[in-house]
Amino acid sequence: MATRQRSMSGTIPSMEGSHQELKNNTLIVVLGASGDLAKKKTYPALFGLYRMGFLPTGVKIVGYARTKMDNAEYHKRITSYIKNVDDDDGKAKLEEFKQLSTYVSGGYEDGESFDKLNQYLQELDGGFQGNERHRLFYLALPPSVFIPVAKNLKEHCYSKAGINRIIVEKPFGKDLESCRELLKSLKEHWTEDETFRIDHYLGKEMVKNLLVLRFANVAMGAAWDKNSISNVQITFKEPFGTEGRGGYFDEFGIIRDILQNHLMQVLSILTMERPVSFAAEDIRDEKVKVLRAIPPVEREDTLLGQYVAANGKPGYLDDDTVPHNSVCPTYAATTLWIHNPRWEGVPFILKAGKALNEAKVEIRIQFKDVTQGIFKDIARNELVLRIQPAEAMYLKLNTKTPGLYTRALPTEMDLTYKRRFTDVYIPEAYESLILDALKGDHSNFVRDDELDVAWKIFTPILHWIEGKNGSAPRPVGYPYGSRGPKELDAFIHKYGYRRSAEGYSWPVTNMSAL
Ligand code: NDP
Ligand code: BG6
Repeated sequence: MATRQRSMSGTIPSMEGSHQELKNNTLIVVLGASGDLAKKKTYPALFGLYRMGFLPTGVKIVGYARTKMDNAEYHKRITSYIKNVDDDDGKAKLEEFKQLSTYVSGGYEDGESFDKLNQYLQELDGGFQGNERHRLFYLALPPSVFIPVAKNLKEHCYSKAGINRIIVEKPFGKDLESCRELLKSLKEHWTEDETFRIDHYLGKEMVKNLLVLRFANVAMGAAWDKNSISNVQITFKEPFGTEGRGGYFDEFGIIRDILQNHLMQVLSILTMERPVSFAAEDIRDEKVKVLRAIPPVEREDTLLGQYVAANGKPGYLDDDTVPHNSVCPTYAATTLWIHNPRWEGVPFILKAGKALNEAKVEIRIQFKDVTQGIFKDIARNELVLRIQPAEAMYLKLNTKTPGLYTRALPTEMDLTYKRRFTDVYIPEAYESLILDALKGDHSNFVRDDELDVAWKIFTPILHWIEGKNGSAPRPVGYPYGSRGPKELDAFIHKYGYRRSAEGYSWPVTNMSAL
């Protein structure tokens, strides 16, 4: 791992597939263009792709929402989160990007608004050469309007002369039943092939790396099971609370916001069997298979928390948009079990929390104790995959203390991306996913049966948390800015996690320096 490597040697031929890529004559329509997601993620990703030359030739982007605004106001909004455009090239590209992005305002429920939108789209794509007219619709909208918008797009804005695709964002329902209803309604208008359900964690570099790490390395493959692994933790930590989003969050809670989707996607790729090929359906078949071997989460395998005011920051209940007696968890740790020959008996601990002490998402795989005898109380091996920030992978190993001693010393093999891949651009998750949707590659999107099985695992515990089967459990309090509930250490200890090698820490403590 010591030498620099700029490009990957070895090819992954089947990844290329034979999808229908939208290379020209394409309109991209962002619905909900006035909103938070559009401003923070969708448009910066579209610009990133445009700047790198990955958008279809001659593409036009149309924003649509109810808010009335002129193009100047629209351009101001959609570029407010675009970074690194101070150089001449960046400035010029941004100007071009603004020129090809225009805005139409209209409602979500009525057909006439969509007729108007279609008229505008026809004016734009009337200028394209050739006969094909492709449309990619991106729904950056709250779920309350998914269905009318999907229906209206199909009935009023569907191109009969080309490929139509629709991208939808989570949340996909609130439990198994509501998810099934939502999927059913969407399917009345859009086929599975046309639908791209985003879970943006599938676009993150380290999550995409899991397939290669696991299946392109014999050494990893050999150690990837219950014989070698003691326990696994998948952790999501955010240093801010739900300020400003309290209304939305209180309806959903941390399990629906993070665990049931983002962390379950990571878990399924981490634990699935080797797919026959990199084709989307082969990968998704394996993900579904492993998820089906997971029984619903048990109450005793769950720890719930809610942040309280501390360090000058407000508590969850101090938000005016949150009911004063809300028992909505802002922190959850749940342990899942996979009943298959590879994983029987290995606990998978999924933890996620808001208002914690740091921003971090990582997978921590702790291996079993080495056979005792010549060693006593020796640190366990751990493989840590840091998804964000600053992608890294490090394997904690014991080595002989250099010198005239024969003592084991915990150390690590460290692959920190920014040090190793010095001049490689790591794409934003949304850049990678929008490009996949343009290519028609579903591998990194969520299939309907994945959702179904993920909801089956979490629906019973969610109904219990909401008091549907008796009184709702009260989450334990934890201070804003802390590591989470103080009960956490005992919780993970119960599943065999040992914080070995006291005093050892991975050398890069200042991640922002990377
Ligand atoms: P917003 O609340 O910002 O809504 C987007 C737009 O939809 C608004 O600008 C508004 O446009 C319209 N809108 C808002 N509320 C309603 C309503 N009740 N009825 C009809 N239209 C409404 O949402 P986000 O942009 O934050 O999220 C959009 C989707 O993306 C959601 O499904 C969300 O869960 C998901 N998501 C968001 C993430 C984020 O970082 N924000 C991350 C991951 C997923 P107008 O009034 O102009 O029509
Ligand atoms: C979203 C959640 O899906 O993911 C947010 O709704 C969360 O609550 C966000 O902040 C985290 O995404 P990322 O990419 O910043 O880890």
